[in-house]
Amino acid sequence: PPPPKKINYHGAFINVAHRGASGHAPENTIAAFDKAVAMHATSFEFDVQRTKDGHLVIMHDTTVDRTTNGKGAVKDLTLKQIRKLDAGSWFGKSFAGEKVPTLRETLKRYRTKPIRIVIELKKPELYPGIEKQVAHMLTKTGLTVIPSKVTVQSFNASSIKKYHHLQPRVKTGVIVSLTEYSKGVPEQKLTEWKAFANYINPNYKLVNKSLVKKIHDRKMKILPYTILDKKTATAVRDMGVDGMITNYPELGK
Ligand code: G3P
Ligand code: CA
Repeated sequence: PPPPKKINYHGAFINVAHRGASGHAPENTIAAFDKAVAMHATSFEFDVQRTKDGHLVIMHDTTVDRTTNGKGAVKDLTLKQIRKLDAGSWFGKSFAGEKVPTLRETLKRYRTKPIRIVIELKKPELYPGIEKQVAHMLTKTGLTVIPSKVTVQSFNASSIKKYHHLQPRVKTGVIVSLTEYSKGVPEQKLTEWKAFANYINPNYKLVNKSLVKKIHDRKMKILPYTILDKKTATAVRDMGVDGMITNYPELGK
């Protein structure tokens, strides 16, 4: 079908449901993404990896152990093996039978829904060529023709640089971890990232007014992660961030 003329997204303050509304439903499942839609989050975020037989699936950890009833690394299991797993029961009985979603079904399901999509390339260094594969999937599902529908982000900045060059029209983000930048984020890095990223998404503990200004001066946006309580939500809002990444979308209201 042709792309919708206009989709009305929620919120001037960008309220991103982290791994879906993962405080309310099992992370990185359709249940958690549907919940994000129901709660009128601006966007939902999830993590993409690749199966042994080359399919793109949504899973945070590099193994299925924590969030399913199976065992093993995503890259050592076939799609068929992964689709048999229960990705909901660990979170609560009422979610029994939730499946590990594929990237394709997720993009198709939310294409015309009033919510934006944030795709994290999780450990892309384990999956050579995943940037090209994700870009191809975005084109194939018609996502690239809907302005600002999708952001692609990663902790791996070189992967994002690669992605930007493959698909310059899609927005991109660099995620900044506390362990890698415990001494703060150097300005030189921000300048480097500016060449290929629209968003800088740091651990909230790295955020202060000066960092927000440096990011805004470079015409980028900042969305700290992962906000779990009202106090932290208020603190980062007071520092002038553009939005936040949270397990509880009600905190961004
Ligand atoms: O969106 C940022 C956040 O998702 C990064 O941390 O470990 O939840 O993927 P993680
Ligand atoms: Ca993530």
